[in-house]
Amino acid sequence: MFPERRLRRLRKRNLQPLFRETRLTAEDLIMPVFFDETIDTAVPITSMPGQWRYPISDAAAVARRLDDAGVRAVILFGIPAEKDAAAHSAYTENGVVQQAVTAIKSACPEMVVITDVCACEYTDHGHCGVIGETCSGEIDLLNDPSLVLMQKISVSQAQAGADMVAPSCMLDGQVAAIRKALDASGYAEVPIMSYSTKFASAFYGPFRDAADSGYSFGDRTTYQMGPANAREAFTESEMDAAEGADILMVKPAGMYLDVLAAVQEIGLPVAAYQVSGEYSMLKVAAAQGWLDEKTCALESLTCIKRAGADLIITYYAEDVARWLSEEQ
Ligand code: PBG
Repeated sequence: MFPERRLRRLRKRNLQPLFRETRLTAEDLIMPVFFDETIDTAVPITSMPGQWRYPISDAAAVARRLDDAGVRAVILFGIPAEKDAAAHSAYTENGVVQQAVTAIKSACPEMVVITDVCACEYTDHGHCGVIGETCSGEIDLLNDPSLVLMQKISVSQAQAGADMVAPSCMLDGQVAAIRKALDASGYAEVPIMSYSTKFASAFYGPFRDAADSGYSFGDRTTYQMGPANAREAFTESEMDAAEGADILMVKPAGMYLDVLAAVQEIGLPVAAYQVSGEYSMLKVAAAQGWLDEKTCALESLTCIKRAGADLIITYYAEDVARWLSEEQ
């Protein structure tokens, strides 16, 4: 106890780096990238300053730019030219994400390309799978018919050359269904990074502008999790682990660090998704001069890693990779 024990001794300025317990590296980060089939030149995403929707023709150049910055992994989202109730364009051979994957892998073979497996950008109603009448007579996302759709999407993305697929629609049984379909199609070696614990979060607001994936009725609370439930959050990830997920995920990240720390105990690698709202809040406050952007971004990501994330999906990935390499 004090005065024998003084924790400030090791906080002397020159000693600080020696006792740093958590170190963020560029290899921890995954950059989300949006490809839009309907545009010819990149369009800025208003709700997410610094982020863009790119045409497919930019895919190779974007990948090279990210690689140059030190980003080693990307997760792709697509905005298709055509949407329908069955999300056909999500699994066609020449779909927007499928084309982007192929272009990135040929320009930058070392880049780890992960694809989001979900239908919300591809359905005209904006929900994450197949909509229909449930046994209680409500119109809602139908679980088992949507599994078939996720199987098709995953296989088509693997066919296009994706290194990893990331199902994000919170269907029961999605990991098992996708694993089965991938294995049956010759993709037993493609890992599944499951959005295993994904909350129905209002912090996804800016993303829905970015990916044009807002819903036309209802909400996502009948499939995504309620933010108040920690025990259920753990069970969601535990079940995905049992179904064969290779990597678990908690999303959003910053407000759910308790869940992240708990899920890490399952023993699989864990990713955390710093979502659009977390990014845009920092951006807008920094633009006002109220927060220091670089320090706050690095602090938020370091805390997410400290809480247990092996990987962090963040719109700051490119900036952080550059900042970290400048420091070396
Ligand atoms: C579903 C998906 C969403 C996000 C990632 N994948 C939107 C949603 O579930 O409504 C949100 C990501 C973010 O807010 O940054 N395809």
